[in-house]
Amino acid sequence: MKINGETKLIGFFGSTFRTSKMYTMYNAVFENLGLNYIYVPFMVEDIKKGVEAIRNLGIHAVGVTIPFKISIIEHLDELDEDAKRIGAVNVVINNNGKLIGGNTDGKGGVKALKEKTEVKNKKIILLGAGGAARALVFALKDEGGKLTILNRTVSEAKELAKAVDCQSGGLEKLPELMSTADILINSTSVGMTPKNNQSIVDKKLLHNKLTVMDIVSNPRETKLLRDAKATGCQTVFADRMLLWQGVLKFEMYTGIKPSVEIMEKALQITSH
Ligand code: ATR
Repeated sequence: MKINGETKLIGFFGSTFRTSKMYTMYNAVFENLGLNYIYVPFMVEDIKKGVEAIRNLGIHAVGVTIPFKISIIEHLDELDEDAKRIGAVNVVINNNGKLIGGNTDGKGGVKALKEKTEVKNKKIILLGAGGAARALVFALKDEGGKLTILNRTVSEAKELAKAVDCQSGGLEKLPELMSTADILINSTSVGMTPKNNQSIVDKKLLHNKLTVMDIVSNPRETKLLRDAKATGCQTVFADRMLLWQGVLKFEMYTGIKPSVEIMEKALQITSH
């Protein structure tokens, strides 16, 4: 990799370095394609100053993660359609000094899902109504999925369902809906380390016609996914979402479709 006066800098704004394998991934693909870009993570304390730095240093673009996905918005010049409807930003493009926020989380999630199943006209149960759910619902709806949102706090499910005009309810509705469902997505934090022996779904409710996706990435194989595998379901791991939201960002950074295989290899992930 040659760094010179023309090198375009892509930053990554988060509050910890450890959460990101992405810089390995992006730099591997930049190198492979001979693109004069470099990807560097920054630990940001004050997001306002972080955004000023993008302007002052002429940073080409940045990826954005927790805890800045919402708080960065007020410092940007514009949001694209995805970021606007989700209400959160995971990427900022510096378009000749104009900073435009985007969000590839939802579309990335749906791309991961579509590696295993069609989405159009499928009955989808989405568990949860927080930020991760919000990122997914619009993209699922765009693909023609028949969505029901279930959440512990019913009012939150109702509110989110209103935004995409779909059904909603409490988690107690899960048993009656499961037998006819095609896709089940856990977008709650249930099953995350250290409570990794928990699942939000009773194993007895799973059936082998289901595709089960979990947004929990730690552990990689959650109890829900383990139960789903044992039942004969198709499974979609959270790191496939991570991969695809990154692929979509790469296209925004460079205008080039990257090799998914090289990105997979750099992230050391498989679809099994
Ligand atoms: P994120 O941005 O990652 O989605 P969040 O906004 O805190 O995180 O949302 C967490 C989701 O997990 C919510 O839907 C939450 O349900 P509530 O709206 O009822 O809080 C859900 N969740 C967290 N712990 C849960 C638990 N023990 N049982 C059921 N749902 C849970």
